[in-house]
Amino acid sequence: MSTRPPVHVSEAEMAVQRDSMCRIAEMPHRPQTYHVVTYGCQMNAHDSEKLAGMLEQMGLTAAPDREEADFVIFNTCCVRDNAERRALGNVTWLKEIRKVRPEMMIAVCGCMIQEPGMAERILKQYPFVDLAFGTANLHRFPSLFERVLTDRQRVVSIDGDDVIAEDVPVRRLRGDAAYLTIMYGCDNFCSYCIVPYVRGRERSRRMADILREAEALRDTGVKEIMLLGQNVNSYRGEDGEGFPQLLRAVDALGIERIRFMTSHPKDLSDDLIAAMAECEHVLPQFHLPVQAGNDDILRRMNRRYTRAEYLDKVRRLREAVPGIGLTTDIIVGFPGETEAQFADTLSLVDEVGYDSAFTFIYSPRTGTAAAKMPDQIPAEVSTERIQRLIALQEKRQREQMTRFVGQEEKVLVEGLSRRSDRQVSGKGGHGISVTFPGNEKDIGQIVPVRITGLKNNTLSAERKES
Ligand code: SAH
Ligand code: SF4
Ligand code: F3S
Repeated sequence: MSTRPPVHVSEAEMAVQRDSMCRIAEMPHRPQTYHVVTYGCQMNAHDSEKLAGMLEQMGLTAAPDREEADFVIFNTCCVRDNAERRALGNVTWLKEIRKVRPEMMIAVCGCMIQEPGMAERILKQYPFVDLAFGTANLHRFPSLFERVLTDRQRVVSIDGDDVIAEDVPVRRLRGDAAYLTIMYGCDNFCSYCIVPYVRGRERSRRMADILREAEALRDTGVKEIMLLGQNVNSYRGEDGEGFPQLLRAVDALGIERIRFMTSHPKDLSDDLIAAMAECEHVLPQFHLPVQAGNDDILRRMNRRYTRAEYLDKVRRLREAVPGIGLTTDIIVGFPGETEAQFADTLSLVDEVGYDSAFTFIYSPRTGTAAAKMPDQIPAEVSTERIQRLIALQEKRQREQMTRFVGQEEKVLVEGLSRRSDRQVSGKGGHGISVTFPGNEKDIGQIVPVRITGLKNNTLSAERKES
């Protein structure tokens, strides 16, 4: 890992961006409304909140539908082929709408733009795209957009160093729960994964900046924050502070609920497990992507832990935080995966008993080590395997969820239930969806409930009189 301190974008550069936002706000013929379409992970969701923040400073207001907006931004993901295809498909679809509304402007940004050759492809194949910029240039969006508006020319910008930009305006989607980035990039280079190539090298924000942001969120009444990083365990503050230390410091601020995402099993430390147990506000939940249950596959994935080491960490987490909600990510059909190796993944899933699992069919990504490996698995084999995996996980999930029946939980209500407007649903402290009687007034509130049973993949509950 590099020991160079991360480069922060200078105050002068941020002032340039602020000036651009002011000038755009004064332009008489600029777009009046915007719509951001987001693909991918929480990082991208939070980047979209920054785009919205900048756009509002430029005087634009949010349009609920993309067809109605004067300016549409696609914030793309490329982690799997289908994510990429969906994004490009939707961009093309908008081309038709632009025939009816020629003044509409379109931008494409995010991880996909950082892929080698993608910017040129966008220029050639998508002539109706006005602006394309990568993740490294997010903070420069105002000056790039100003260039499009003043020069009436297409702008593509993908170069940029791995920097940290503080004080980018943010327009958060929710007032009760907020994302807070603690680090950017990834240095792990799992052999299947494109993220290190499109998000750059690992760099951590200063602890003081993170705490300042967390305090500000607390003071606006945010009840839950999610600390974000591709591998939060790699967090290194400027004085060498590690993630457990940061977690304890955030916990001390008195925000009601704290979560984090994602944690790599190889460097999940005893100190982090201790911090989880100690910290009053850190929720009893853990997302610990395993990817596969076979040691040979794990080694070729460059995950740098064995099945036994993983299982040992799960055991220690459960000892320290009894009843902890445990979730994971799994890839099936990694190159060369045999039936016996896949059976090891099934047996691991059976053994752990996850509360939920995100399962993916391996998707070759150009430029990654695994894309060049022999014995790529045919789609029909992977499809059949993932079906078996999902069936097993659903069964284990139902079994695991019964441990909550009769227990009390505090639920942060996200909205009305999809099935009935006299029911609300949200997440309990263990990260599992809970539905119970309620109405609009509960949205954004933390409500104490008693779990009464399970329905499909959610828990049902009754309100606890407090
Ligand atoms: N940094 C996080 C998240 C990475 S992306 C982590 O390490 O867990 C989220 C998930 O996408 C990964 O955990 C992995 O399961 C999946 N994924 C990444 N690359 C993939 C690929 N090429 N094909 C299929 N799934 C992939
Ligand atoms: Fe990708 Fe691995 Fe980094 Fe996660 S830890 S983002 S899977 S390279
Ligand atoms: Fe996708 Fe980029 Fe996240 S590739 S998963 S949006 S880091």
